Amino acid sequence: MLVTKQPVLRRFWYAIMRIEQLDNGPQPFTLLGEPIVLFLDAKGEPAALEDRCCHRTAKLSKGWCRNGNIVCGYHGWEYDRDGKLVMIPQFPFEQPIPDARARAFRTKTRYGYVWVALDEPLRDIPDIPEDSDPAYRRIFQFYDTWNTAALRLMENSFDNAHFAFVHKNTFGDIDQPRPEKYEIVETDYGFEAETLVTVKNPPMAAKISGTTEPYTKRHMRNKWFMPFCRRLDMEYPSGIRHIIFNCATPIADGKIQVVQLLFRNDTEADCSAQELIDWDAAIIAEDRDILESTDPDAIVDMGRKIEKHMPSDRPGMLMRKRLLDLLHEHDEEEVPKMQDTMSLTAQN
Ligand code: FES
Ligand SMILES: [Fe+2]
Repeated sequence: MLVTKQPVLRRFWYAIMRIEQLDNGPQPFTLLGEPIVLFLDAKGEPAALEDRCCHRTAKLSKGWCRNGNIVCGYHGWEYDRDGKLVMIPQFPFEQPIPDARARAFRTKTRYGYVWVALDEPLRDIPDIPEDSDPAYRRIFQFYDTWNTAALRLMENSFDNAHFAFVHKNTFGDIDQPRPEKYEIVETDYGFEAETLVTVKNPPMAAKISGTTEPYTKRHMRNKWFMPFCRRLDMEYPSGIRHIIFNCATPIADGKIQVVQLLFRNDTEADCSAQELIDWDAAIIAEDRDILESTDPDAIVDMGRKIEKHMPSDRPGMLMRKRLLDLLHEHDEEEVPKMQDTMSLTAQN
């Protein structure tokens, strides 16, 4: 699925950047191939506009903020938070401003991030109850650009068959290639998947898991939120909960911004934020290395038989089915890559 070719994907919320980043002035981002600029309005709320001035097309993100408006850095034309052109400094005071605007997009602030939906959202930002639970702390773990498809990252975390291989140097056991099975329950937003997995627990993981045993178990109650958010809720026998929330924000086809938040029900004294970041950094680097080697066009129409499957791929297959259903519900077909179109033409 080429994300920039499927308009329905514009109807979801995506985490874009930390709200604090906007204290430094307007910031550019590309969402689903659409260049946008984010800035803070007069109330300190985030605003998002197309990153294009209607005068000579300069990027508004090159400009600066003034009283909650954004000023184009080329000739100083000024836009309000809704994208309306409100000032042309070259005009005499009495001359009216023409009715012109930059397109504006919906924004919300949630979990310390600015979220943007390019078109009318089909559902709200996924709920993370732990974010307002005083028993949990929130750690901003990662904000990195990866060269892979969002669906690849989504299915990766529900794929118990990769631990033994991709994570053989951290928690995976290469001698245990048979994956545990998931219990999957479909929901309106995606699905929930529960499993109990045995993992290696090397000394460096003792504070993460809360035990020094050489092996431990993870009770995983995970959720997939269509299209590109996931929640990995890992509970260790020690009672420690390690809850990872990701948004694989689609920048373009084969390019994502990986946003990762972590919620833990222990304290900084038990296991520091830096130790938690270092532990998950090693794991996510293993995933990144292999995922960046995959074809960025993760096909959702399994009828095209481009990828082979095995039983433990069921979560990823369900994602493909639900995403294809989503496209069909909105009168879209999966748009194939150009070479597919060309080979089809050649066959006819
Ligand atoms: S290009 Fe923006 S003011 Fe001229
Ligand atoms: Fe992984």
